[in-house]
Amino acid sequence: MTINTIDKQRVLSGIQPSGNLTIGNYLGALKQWVVQQYNYDSFFCVVDLHAITVQQDPELLRQKTREVAALYIASGIDPDISTIFVQSHIPAHSELAWLLTCMAPLGWLNRMTQFKDKSAKQSQESIGAGLLNYPSLMAADILLYQANAVPVGDDQRQHLEFTRDLAQRFNHLYGETFTIPDVMVPQAGARIMGLDEPTSKMSKSTDSEYHAIYLLDDGAILKKKIMRSVTDSFREIKFSGKPERAGVNNLLTIHRAITGESSESIEEYFSDKGYGDLKKTVLASVIGVLEPLQTEYQRLINESGYLDNILKQGSEKAADVANDTLRRVRENMGFLMQS
Ligand code: TRP
Repeated sequence: MTINTIDKQRVLSGIQPSGNLTIGNYLGALKQWVVQQYNYDSFFCVVDLHAITVQQDPELLRQKTREVAALYIASGIDPDISTIFVQSHIPAHSELAWLLTCMAPLGWLNRMTQFKDKSAKQSQESIGAGLLNYPSLMAADILLYQANAVPVGDDQRQHLEFTRDLAQRFNHLYGETFTIPDVMVPQAGARIMGLDEPTSKMSKSTDSEYHAIYLLDDGAILKKKIMRSVTDSFREIKFSGKPERAGVNNLLTIHRAITGESSESIEEYFSDKGYGDLKKTVLASVIGVLEPLQTEYQRLINESGYLDNILKQGSEKAADVANDTLRRVRENMGFLMQS
């Protein structure tokens, strides 16, 4: 099926191929991209150049890059409708990132909370400069495609503000070149927290065994993780914003995001039940989405050439748009154009 992309607003988003994608990535991002792809001219990339801002094993990076791309498709992103590609396949990302790095004020970069958090975990001497410049690369991803909107979680809001500020600065210095992108606020209530630590966001790069539900976890592992998830001693199954009730709230949130049921009907259903029932019900709803997704994933990853072909087509489409923008950027900045 082909659809008319004229007059459609464009969106772009991406996920890093580091760690394992979690149910948080699915419910908070992928599932929403799937719904939105029919209304927007959508570009979804696997941001491998971002992943290398922290050290990656080369073989694992390659494997994870394919895995994330396959999970995009297995989640329901239709390669005939959306453009799916790998960031490093389009050299324009690296090139524009450099041009933007040269005009990104160090003061802005130093204020990024993600940089502060990530760099706090390493010794100052050994932090790669890429970690500081990460937002300039993300700005390049977005601005190359003249995206109108960027669907990202709350934690990426500051990077998007940075992108908007940088684009405005560029347009002011060199003339109208970039579309100023808007943040696309995710559907409320799909912020998934760690099972073992329900006051912090579920992360895909953690060593803790009982923290995250991975999209490729099998049934036995899902059972173990969900049955061991942190709850409390209140014996009341209700949505709550209180930190001491975050575990139960998180399980309910996962269930609600999967089933689409209202909070009231979920609370009603559990009004005469205990935490054991809650966990069993959440387990069943998680398996209900992940089983078909995993079957589709296996089919894609085993079908030789299929995924690579999609990524090739995606990168051809993406390159057309990206190179067009890059040509204008070079011209406007005063680079000598080749004839
Ligand atoms: N920084 C984003 C994250 O960690 C990933 C990302 C990179 C991104 N480039 C992007 C998201 C462009 C949206 C648009 O979640």
